Amino acid sequence: MADPNHQTLRGDNPKLQQLLSAGWQVVSESWGARMVISDDILARCQAKQAPPPGWVVRELDATDTTQAAALQGAVISDFPITFSSFGVLTAAEQLKAEMTAGNLWLFGAFDAANQLGCYVAFEKADQYAPGLIDIANAATLPAARGLGLAKATAAFGILTLAKLGHRLYGAGGAAQNTASLALVKSLGGDITENYYDIVSPEAVATASPQYAGTET
Ligand SMILES: CC(C)(COP(=O)(O)OP(=O)(O)OC[C@H]1O[C@@H](n2cnc3c(N)ncnc32)[C@H](O)[C@@H]1OP(=O)(O)O)[C@@H](O)C(=O)NCCC(=O)NCCS
Repeated sequence: MADPNHQTLRGDNPKLQQLLSAGWQVVSESWGARMVISDDILARCQAKQAPPPGWVVRELDATDTTQAAALQGAVISDFPITFSSFGVLTAAEQLKAEMTAGNLWLFGAFDAANQLGCYVAFEKADQYAPGLIDIANAATLPAARGLGLAKATAAFGILTLAKLGHRLYGAGGAAQNTASLALVKSLGGDITENYYDIVSPEAVATASPQYAGTET
């Protein structure tokens, strides 16, 4: 049942200002972005798809899903937890099933020992817009962050899927997740919307998101 003391509203919803004037308070913010394949996006992705030395980027297959699930587990506690944004763990078998069904593509960066250091997930999200592919999840091992792995992996993924005809991409995350926001902007994503999680005056002291780490 919906919590009557919590709402998530788009920044352009007039109800937001009404409730804030009535004493509701913002407890977290998130953003949504869109990317439509264009010559500019393709050129950006081509320029950014090369991984740093010592790393190889490729599409993952069913045999890689155990490593992908393990990497999810290793970074899950780094996802900011808000009412609207949180990390999700997916078991290897489920990843395999979604990939086989054609609903999910995973791309990853492997080191010289063939260890997965970064992956980016692309998920069919037709329920939000026809043909939309959600860049649903990006994860880099803490020791390998800031090297350009997520950027190279995401760029490679977009170029691969664009060749298959997928032209519309979406992404979203918590406002405080500066790295994921920078990743999407770096690839040419436009921030199209902002969302605000607000709580009623009665609930301000106790508001606490509880959705992290959901097993699916
Ligand atoms: C988000 C995450 C995947 C980025 O991985 P990464 O491999 O370190 O990212 P890259 O090195 O490819 O950098 C991508 C862009 O983000 C920027 N960036 C990286 N870390 C950053 C940080 N902590 N703050 C601000 N910008 C950052 C880089 O400069 C680059 O932008 P640029 O092309 O304009 O220079 C990684 O921080 C992570 O695993 N976080 C925890 C899980 C998470 O929150 N995932 C996001 C869900 S989509």
